[in-house]
Amino acid sequence: MSSIVQQPVSIFNEFDYITEREQEVKAHTGSVAFDGLSEPILLAQDMSGGCGGKIWKCANVMIDYFIWKNVQSNGTLFKNQKIVEIGSGTGLVGLAVAKICPEIKQMVITDQLPMMDLMQENIKLNHLEHSVTADILNWGEEIPNLSQVLGADVILASDCIYLEVAFLPLLETFFALTNKESSVIYLTYKKRRNADKLFFQAAKKKFIFKDVTEDPKMNNYKRDKLHLFSVMRKPLNQQQLQDLQKAKSNTTTTQA
Ligand SMILES: C[S@@+](CC[C@H](N)C(=O)[O-])C[C@H]1O[C@@H](n2cnc3c(N)ncnc32)[C@H](O)[C@@H]1O
Repeated sequence: MSSIVQQPVSIFNEFDYITEREQEVKAHTGSVAFDGLSEPILLAQDMSGGCGGKIWKCANVMIDYFIWKNVQSNGTLFKNQKIVEIGSGTGLVGLAVAKICPEIKQMVITDQLPMMDLMQENIKLNHLEHSVTADILNWGEEIPNLSQVLGADVILASDCIYLEVAFLPLLETFFALTNKESSVIYLTYKKRRNADKLFFQAAKKKFIFKDVTEDPKMNNYKRDKLHLFSVMRKPLNQQQLQDLQKAKSNTTTTQA
């Protein structure tokens, strides 16, 4: 990895800054093969809309794990489940999961507006229009009640912890998306800066993090400071439950 500090490539997003940027890629369309995936993923990469326009190592970690996990689950991983990916960039992770697990209920890949065309192009390139849709999801922004991203069983976030100013908005989005008690977030993370611990300190107040230690490739990627976690919301305490019930009954009274 290059240790050269570079300026943001994106004119759209001031958050879009990774100090230890890996080599940038020229816009092109190619194919990405994974051991255990019957056909390669066709992928357009283009960094003109932001850093998400290329493949990050975190994405490979997540995809390799799900290929392995699907074999362990006799091909039933995520069967009938709704999956939402955030900060999808090219959409590689979501597209790969849709190929690994053809019986998912729905896959929504999301990012900011400048990544929309790239995500849509990559859905089409892989003929996944029947199971994958692209949507805009800006972290920290309120999610409309009828949004297709709500009610997800699984949330995927690959390499989304990289800028301090986005830590709290990202956590708000995690909270909003895990509105089902059973929702689980899979998160891959590359440790780049000490400030990242601020994200984990804040996150651990509301979420429980587990290292995915069953992944047979874990020792390989840990050497590169890459981590894979499964994350769930902490159960609400008595006071929080009461507050929630109060808020619900206030809404009902106001509507009546
Ligand atoms: C390092 S890239 C990772 C891309 C992809 N998930 C991967 O692993 O290859 C981080 C992604 O987060 C997105 N992102 C950054 N800030 C965001 C925000 N405030 N709201 C939504 N997406 C954001 C970027 O556009 C980018 O696609």
